[in-house]
Amino acid sequence: MRFDLANVTTETAEPLIPPKPTLNKLRDAAADCRACPLWKVGTQTVFGEGPRTARIMFVGEVPGDYEDRTGKPFVGPAGKLLDRALEEIGLDRTTVYVTNVVKHFKWEPRGKRRLHKKPNAHEIRACRPWLNAEIAVVKPHAIVCLGATAAQALLGPQFRVTQHRGEWIDSPLAPRVMATVHPSSILRAPDDETRERETAAFIEDLRMLTEIANETAPPAEPG
Ligand code: URA
Ligand code: SF4
Repeated sequence: MRFDLANVTTETAEPLIPPKPTLNKLRDAAADCRACPLWKVGTQTVFGEGPRTARIMFVGEVPGDYEDRTGKPFVGPAGKLLDRALEEIGLDRTTVYVTNVVKHFKWEPRGKRRLHKKPNAHEIRACRPWLNAEIAVVKPHAIVCLGATAAQALLGPQFRVTQHRGEWIDSPLAPRVMATVHPSSILRAPDDETRERETAAFIEDLRMLTEIANETAPPAEPG
C-alpha cells in the first residue's frame, strides 16, 4: 500500500472497505471514495444495485452520462438494451445485481456532450476492492462480464471476448463466470440490420442464465 500524504490519497480503495461489509455499508463508504482521480471527474459514485440474494451479477465498465446523473448503474441506453435482453430470457432486472468495474463516470467534453472515456489500468486497479467486496457479499452463482474491460479485469488481460463470449470460464470468483459484448457496442452498430443481429447474439449468450436463476441450490464450486 502506498500512501501519498500530500493528497491523502491511497493507491486503491482497499483501506475504505468497512469491516463486516454489507451492501449498504459499502455503498455509504464508496460515496466518499477518493482512491483515484475520477472522484473529481464524475458527479457521484455509482455503486452497484440489486438484492444481496441475487444469483446473477452483471459487471459493466464504467457509468455513463445517465448513470452519473442518477447515481444508478445501467439506466441509460445501454441499460435499456440490457433490460430488453433480460426480458427476452425471462429474467427480472430487479432480481439481478448490476455493477461496474469502475464506479465514477469518466468523460471528456465534446461540444456540449460529455463523451465517455475508458478507464485506465490505474483507475481499474484502484476501484477493484469495491467490486471484490460486492462479490464477497452477494456471492453470485454466476457473474457476467459485459465487454472487454470487465472481462479482462476479471478474467485476465489475455481474455478475448470475441473468442470466448457466451462460454462458462473457470474462475475462483464464482461457480460460473461468462463474458459477452458490452451493450454499448451493440448500440454503436453501423446499421439496423447489424444492430438486430448483434442484439440477438447477445440474448443468446445470456440464455444460459435462465437455468441459474431457477436453481434451488448453488452449483458446486468448479475443480
Ligand atoms: N456502461 C457501463 O459500462 N456501465 C453503466 O453503468 C452504463 C453504461
Ligand atoms: Fe474511488 Fe472508484 Fe471513484 Fe476512483 S472510480 S474515486 S476508486 S469509487
